[in-house]
Amino acid sequence: MSDASSENRIRIFDTTLRDGEQAPGCSMTLSEKLRVAKALSELNVDIIEAGFPAASPGDFESVKAIADNNFGPVICGLARCNAADIEKVYESVKGADNHRIHVFVATSAIHREHKLKMAKEEIIKSAVGAIEMARELCDDVEFSPEDASRTELSYLAEVVSAAIEAGATTVNVPDTVGYTVPAEFDRLFCYLKEHVARINEVTLSVHCHNDLGMAVANSLAAVGAGARQIECTINGIGERAGNCSLEEVVMAVKTRAEFFGLDTGVDTTRLYPTSRLVSNITGMHPPRNKAIVGENAFAHEAGIHQHGMLQHASTYEIMRPEDVGLSKSNLVLGKHSGRHAFRDRVKELGFDLDDFETNRAFKEFKKLADKKKDVYDGDIESIIMNAGSLSSGPWTLKSLEVQTHTDEPATATVTLIGEDGVEVSQSARGDGPVAASFQALETATGVAMVLRNFELHSASIGEDAQGEVTVTVEIENKSYRGRGASVDIVEAGCRACLEVMNRTLRRRERGEVTAHDAVTSHATI
Ligand code: KIV
Ligand code: ZN
Repeated sequence: MSDASSENRIRIFDTTLRDGEQAPGCSMTLSEKLRVAKALSELNVDIIEAGFPAASPGDFESVKAIADNNFGPVICGLARCNAADIEKVYESVKGADNHRIHVFVATSAIHREHKLKMAKEEIIKSAVGAIEMARELCDDVEFSPEDASRTELSYLAEVVSAAIEAGATTVNVPDTVGYTVPAEFDRLFCYLKEHVARINEVTLSVHCHNDLGMAVANSLAAVGAGARQIECTINGIGERAGNCSLEEVVMAVKTRAEFFGLDTGVDTTRLYPTSRLVSNITGMHPPRNKAIVGENAFAHEAGIHQHGMLQHASTYEIMRPEDVGLSKSNLVLGKHSGRHAFRDRVKELGFDLDDFETNRAFKEFKKLADKKKDVYDGDIESIIMNAGSLSSGPWTLKSLEVQTHTDEPATATVTLIGEDGVEVSQSARGDGPVAASFQALETATGVAMVLRNFELHSASIGEDAQGEVTVTVEIENKSYRGRGASVDIVEAGCRACLEVMNRTLRRRERGEVTAHDAVTSHATI
């Protein structure tokens, strides 16, 4: 049997759709998850952890839909150490040519005593039973001792040995609460390599959270000590401070290849488009200074840096923007740009639109170019990402009039056009322009909702930049997300809100009970 840690290829296990999606504000609908899964396969990750099928029927359905699409990477689902969870994972992932069952149980004293109320031996027994059962269904089984980094080393080695004997093919070591530091994590991996007899027969994996800001550093320390699978998420989304960021860890391995002597299979030119896709879907945008995919990651402001860059890019640049899929030129389009230039730019930005979608986006581009002089990449991405909010009535926003006065309630009047061409106008007062206009929309459409979150992001630069708004609203106790964009941010909010209202009305007209466009609830875990 060859020693897996002597291989120089690192497997990238993406858990954006499981650990990432579990984080507050990051829930996705089924169709959004499918788009992310497709993008991850184009990024060429090795494994997609598509969800936790036992968490809710919605989770089960989305893992199954992703597996049935057979995008290419191994499709994995998470299970606790019980038969029902394991069967659910198997039923949901088996449609993919390559599938994996990932079972986990907590092993640290804190979890044993306060959460599981189980003795050490019971935990080993439960892990062994679960792995054996999973192996009967599937050849590819991963085991994770949750909170491994706070587990007594000798007990951790015992658990891992038992997991390997039971048939685990990948052993993942999670730093569940983001507690460890690189030197300590290196010692933990070295300890396991020394004390677990058959450790070289499995793939050793690492799974880090970012509570102390060291998820990437800790993952790289584990790689240095022999881990050959890294679990990570796009934009580092995940519980609390998030997970190890995929784009950062992949670019660290690539940029410092002479140090690590390792490689991943990731097509790094897809990093930026995938990051944008995930942030557009979740409405959670990385900070401007975020490594690799932040808007400032390749911006050079200081005069001395700019001078150096003009002499030779390598003076201040350790990676090329085009290597992560950022266009070098950020070419500006304007109202004289034709369909060809627009189509080429859309392609370069990584979108694959059919003729209908291209025409629709081009029309929106022309409307925008009439309002603002320069149309940047961010504006084009925004048009494409928000296409859903422009389509499929019954209601279209005709006009919005808002009045605000300091220390007084705002008033708003919205005029909507229905499918039959009938116009409806409603006015309302509210604490601010958003509250007033949303109230007017509720009266006009007859859809009552509670606004839970309003996220605003600037799609490009300058005073006339488009505002992209993502709203999360509750309708009949279910959560929905809508998006809208406009150079007027209140109008962008209204478009986002109207998108959800239109979806609700269409669903009601079809008499549908299940809301497939609701963002997943993990309440049943
Ligand atoms: O953080 C963690 O421990 C996990 C495990 C389920 C792998 O997400
Ligand atoms: Zn985790």
